[in-house]
Amino acid sequence: MSLRACAATRAIVESAELAQNTAMIIQIPSKKDSLGGLEGKTVLTHKPLLAAILGERQERPPLWIMRQAGRYLPEYRAVRTRAQNFLDLCYNPELATEVTLQPLRRFDLDAAILFSDILVIPDALGQSVRFEQGEGPLLAPLSAESVAQLKPERLLGHLAPVLETVRRLRATLTPDKTLIGFCGSPWTVATYMIGGRGSTDQAAARLFALRHPEAFNQLIDILVQASIDYLVAQLEAGADVVQLFESWALNLDDQAFAERVIEPNRRIVQGIRERIPNAPIIGFPRGAAGNLAKYAALTGVNALGLDYATPLDFAAKHLPAVLPVQGNLDPLRLVAGGPQLDHRIDEIITAFADRPHIFNLGHGIVPETPIEHVARLVSRVKNG
Ligand code: CP3
Repeated sequence: MSLRACAATRAIVESAELAQNTAMIIQIPSKKDSLGGLEGKTVLTHKPLLAAILGERQERPPLWIMRQAGRYLPEYRAVRTRAQNFLDLCYNPELATEVTLQPLRRFDLDAAILFSDILVIPDALGQSVRFEQGEGPLLAPLSAESVAQLKPERLLGHLAPVLETVRRLRATLTPDKTLIGFCGSPWTVATYMIGGRGSTDQAAARLFALRHPEAFNQLIDILVQASIDYLVAQLEAGADVVQLFESWALNLDDQAFAERVIEPNRRIVQGIRERIPNAPIIGFPRGAAGNLAKYAALTGVNALGLDYATPLDFAAKHLPAVLPVQGNLDPLRLVAGGPQLDHRIDEIITAFADRPHIFNLGHGIVPETPIEHVARLVSRVKNG
């Protein structure tokens, strides 16, 4: 290799290292010099999962598992007993780093997802948030009058330990692994803040939005700004990509979907990119169904998470061929295992073979999942 090519290669390696932290896209100059076959191509990153999010199809789909750190792992349950309660675990950088890394020690996953929860934002804003064993989250339900009492100025100070976890993960992960940060999207977080707990129809929040539009819009504005500030801070601390969890995008008519899902998610994407141009963002609007293509086009996310109810032929036909997709195995198929699991994994990979695809579940892994089935999934996706 000539001296000039050597220097060029070093510059590329250095900018690739920078790119691991800043998620920059690197253009390889087109030259006659040997650059290991990379001439004239856009090398996105050494991280296969990030590359897929940025639009580069990979030979085999990279994968991570939604809620991959959690109660199906005995080592998670062991660490969990060392924290007083679930939020203490989220705010303990040492333990949160440990549980984030646990699934990567067992399985050949392409990404780590920061260990935290979507409800740390309401907690940071001063609302009472508790997690009861077997009950899920319990919040002091927000009234129209109490929206004005939320304290956005507390946000980043309160979440400083989570950002410290991101920095520790960045320093620990090998360069081939993608670090995913996240928050809940405003509507989904608002359903818990208003309802005080999870529900199947989100009726409390849907009624609140219709009866108290001013207070509701004020709440969404607070959550949009908090999400921008929090996700920018995660990216600056070392996350390669951030995911917006819109877990309750179902049960909305098209007008409500446009106002409560698309518009706040669009504002978050825009707000992040004003501060970090080209920041890679995954949107996961669970239950968006017929609104999926509109959500992707209007929010400007890089990649679209698909829930397991999204038909593969619908996705292949109605989503732009250049749009990276993530998903979408039914988590209960992973519980049941056996031939149906192998068969469905193959079907999903085949359906998305001609576009950038990140393999994942179509919702979070459940505690009953046998660990051997997860190992089987990873091996099947990686090796066929
Ligand atoms: O590896 C990971 O992904 C862990 C990080 C993570 C958690 N929650 C940890 C957690 C992430 C990305 C989440 C996201 C989250 N939290 C969502 C969006 C994804 C989805 O599933 O739709 C939502 C809606 C929540 C809110 C939430 N947190 C609920 C409804 C519950 C109770 C139900 C449950 O799964 O237990 C939680 C608790 C929670 N969050 C646990 C974990 C590991 C279990 C609590 C415990 O260990 O005691």
